[in-house]
Amino acid sequence: MKLSNTLLMGGIVGAGILGAVTYYVSTSQEALPETPPIPADKVVKLDKKLPVLTWQKALPETPPIPADNPQSAAKIELGKKLYFDPRLSSNGTVSCNSCHNVMAGGDDNRPVSVGVDGKTGGRSAPTVWNSAFLSVQFWDGRAPSLEEQAKGPVTNPVEMGMKDWNAVVKTLKAIPGYQPLFKAVFKEENPITTDNTVKAIAAYERTLITPNSPYDRYVKGDITALTEQQIQGMNTFAQAGCLACHMGANFSGPQLAMGTGFFQKFPSIPGSEYDTKYKLLEDTGRHQVTGNESDKHSWRVPTLRNIALTAPYFHNGAVATLDEAVRVMAKTQLGKVLTDKEAQDIVAFLNSLTGEFSEQTMPRLPGTPGKSIISD
Ligand code: HEC
Ligand code: HEC
Repeated sequence: MKLSNTLLMGGIVGAGILGAVTYYVSTSQEALPETPPIPADKVVKLDKKLPVLTWQKALPETPPIPADNPQSAAKIELGKKLYFDPRLSSNGTVSCNSCHNVMAGGDDNRPVSVGVDGKTGGRSAPTVWNSAFLSVQFWDGRAPSLEEQAKGPVTNPVEMGMKDWNAVVKTLKAIPGYQPLFKAVFKEENPITTDNTVKAIAAYERTLITPNSPYDRYVKGDITALTEQQIQGMNTFAQAGCLACHMGANFSGPQLAMGTGFFQKFPSIPGSEYDTKYKLLEDTGRHQVTGNESDKHSWRVPTLRNIALTAPYFHNGAVATLDEAVRVMAKTQLGKVLTDKEAQDIVAFLNSLTGEFSEQTMPRLPGTPGKSIISD
């Protein structure tokens, strides 16, 4: 079996899915020729529910924490305030939570998001829940960490629309209540900086983990946590070849070092009716970051955790339902047309990846006494 790959990123491919892992780097990407074989002993039999297989991994309770940004309760609380504060946008209306609603699935359930002054971009907002497990951020993997990611939306003209980060820092400094909060966390003379702002936001995001889905409980040994149909769907997911890309505890590929992405072509097999129906070839994906011809239509393999909650699907939000997204994947990535039963079983399995969401309460924000934030 040979999977597509990129020049920049040494991808990892599970040979035969469950066997040894092979590293290689290729200059061009190729479509998957056929379904990889699944050894019979790797398939869960419905009559005797076998316990956990080697590929099945529960979501860890804590994500990787970078050495230069350790978690602390005060930092997480500050990050949460910043995450919810619309004053980080040019007209005081848009916060991170506007597009990544942590009271719900962590996205906005829209094809594309709405930023300041009703502006829209070309891509769909992914969920922030479990984003701490992703080794690169954004559909095209252009940010190597949550810290770097958080610098993007604030100054993006179609998102929060601030002129630049100097303007953001100025705004935060003009809100008197932020100074002592930053000071308590960062203990510097001038603690309100770009770096400290994004560090605090990232620290809050690293608390947004959803463990204990039915699938996780199954993997930990409770074989009653999944329904028969979900187990059937788990088998179909593995047998059809979905696992070749959506592997690991987060179903987003092999665990790579932070900053290193797992990229694959979408569509891997161009030419299906979906290319035009869902405009799959309009955005060139990773190619827009690297400029490399071989990266055209390469995308980071996304997580499938909580996927039932984050419709519509794909980078452009073009597909409304999970059932259709699964059929599109089977056809464009594996050259397969699923039967209705196969698609429904896989969807049932994907539903078992919805985890437990910790209660999120809106934070109190420090006030802006006596003045408008729209001053200059
Ligand atoms: C106007 C809507 C909007 C706002 C506001 C916004 N985002 Fe996003 N966010 C998006 C979109 C759209 C993407 C995907 C863009 C892409 O991949 O090119 C994204 C991507 C992300 C990702 C990457 C997730 C992944 O799976 O790769 C994270 C994390 C994130 N945003 C966090 C934040 C934070 C933190 C803020 C506030 C500082 C914020 N966002 C503000 C729309 C928004
Ligand atoms: C060759 C690698 C590959 C294979 C095989 C594959 N996927 Fe994907 N999958 C991807 C990539 C890359 C994306 C991101 C597409 C994009 O950028 O819009 C994706 C996206 C998805 C999404 C949408 C995620 C979202 O947040 O919108 C779902 C659902 C999904 N895959 C399920 C499956 C299922 C089910 C199978 C098996 C039938 C499968 N995938 C097989 C690479 C793959």
